[in-house]
Amino acid sequence: MRLAVVILAAGQGTRMKSRLPKVLHPLGGHPLLTYSIATARALIEAPLILVIGHGAEAVREIAGSQVTIVVQPEQLGTGHAVLQTESVLADVAEAVLVVYADMPLIRTETLRRLAEAHAVGGSPITLLTISADNPRGFGRIVRDTTGRVSAIVEEAQATPAQLAIRELYTGVACYDATWLWPHLHRLPLSPSGEFYLTDLVALAVAEGRSVQALSADDPEEMIGINTRAHLAEAEAILRRRINHRWMEAGITLIDPSTTYIQDTVEIGPDTVILPNTHLWGQTRIGAECRLGPNTIVRDTTIGDRCRVEASVLEGALLEDDVDVGPFAHLRPGAHLARGVHMGNFGEVKNSYLGPGTKMGHFSYLGDATVGQNVNIGAGTITCNYDGERKHPTIIEDGAFIGSDTMLVAPVRVGHDAKTGAGAVVTHDIPPGSVAYGVPARVKG
Ligand code: UD1
Ligand code: CA
Repeated sequence: MRLAVVILAAGQGTRMKSRLPKVLHPLGGHPLLTYSIATARALIEAPLILVIGHGAEAVREIAGSQVTIVVQPEQLGTGHAVLQTESVLADVAEAVLVVYADMPLIRTETLRRLAEAHAVGGSPITLLTISADNPRGFGRIVRDTTGRVSAIVEEAQATPAQLAIRELYTGVACYDATWLWPHLHRLPLSPSGEFYLTDLVALAVAEGRSVQALSADDPEEMIGINTRAHLAEAEAILRRRINHRWMEAGITLIDPSTTYIQDTVEIGPDTVILPNTHLWGQTRIGAECRLGPNTIVRDTTIGDRCRVEASVLEGALLEDDVDVGPFAHLRPGAHLARGVHMGNFGEVKNSYLGPGTKMGHFSYLGDATVGQNVNIGAGTITCNYDGERKHPTIIEDGAFIGSDTMLVAPVRVGHDAKTGAGAVVTHDIPPGSVAYGVPARVKG
């Protein structure tokens, strides 16, 4: 059986009250839409159709080349949206699985079970349903006195008795293609002025066909995002899934409910993550580290046995046994070699700190290359910007930079040289010498 998947993403998402199309709102740091595409692609590679409409240009950009795009020019309802795919799929697919792009948490395995049930069921429609106490605005599954599915009633059109039904339509269904296309043309206009895909059920039943319902077992998978409150619920579920996976993999999360790890992050075994820690983007963390509390790490690589406390790291590289914080800020291009110690209120940008170098308190290093076993005294600053251009500072191995030294770049401090407290260094300092004063002069 040749299966096609159709993902509907044309709606505006009015209930989000946003200028951004609903399917582009971020969930776990990725646009909502990317989840249903990835889930569908894990089931089949093609034909995979994405129906877009509202905010089409922006949505198209995010969708990329992995899907065939069909535009629904006017958003006249879910039935009308699927109808737009007829010309692309009519001669291609024998079965069509329809999912909504606002259901990011559904698993590939669930889609597979539905497609398999449909293939053997003999009904023109197989619905994925869920029984849940909170109906969340879902369509209700109406059954006749013999227990057969007779219709899906949307919440807006439901009678009080139907509103009490707790068997709900998830928004996922599989259709026989030869049955689907002619019947989509026959959908009635609903009282809301839309063509509801869900009205196909009543059409099938009116023709004496049976409609199959497969019950899904995990209500969390079925969350549809219609409002910002739904988005927050989905975020919490996604976070729980990711955190659970890391704990299973041997990572300690002291408080998973305040630990935020994007699905792009990698973490080595026996690392401990303390509360309120955010790990984002292309971040790789080694084994036996201790991160947090109150730490943000973005696009950063951290080696083994590092400690980072209450700090912000962005685009940085930490080798093994590095110790950072509290209250440090590493910016893009910061590279801390093995065993570096960076204490409180320091900032490092686009700079290399060699092995064993220490920068304890209140310092800024920008565009600097620092050798090994250098001591950066409290309050040291690289004056790297003259108002127009950035300039480099070089500090060679074993140098001792006295407290409150201003290094006016471009400038070089030779190996094992020293600067006195408060020195303003405007010229290179030869190796092994001592410079002090304002502007700094070499002693002796
Ligand atoms: C829909 C179902 C409801 C189900 C629920 C599950 C219908 C009529 N109702 O309601 O039974 O319980 O999902 O989440 O199908 N869309 C288009 N073009 C349109 C209209 C919508 O592409 O003209 C897309 C939207 O972008 C969205 C999806 O279809 O991704 C569902 O639309 P939405 O308005 O969210 O439907 P619900 O009210 O949630
Ligand atoms: Ca929805």
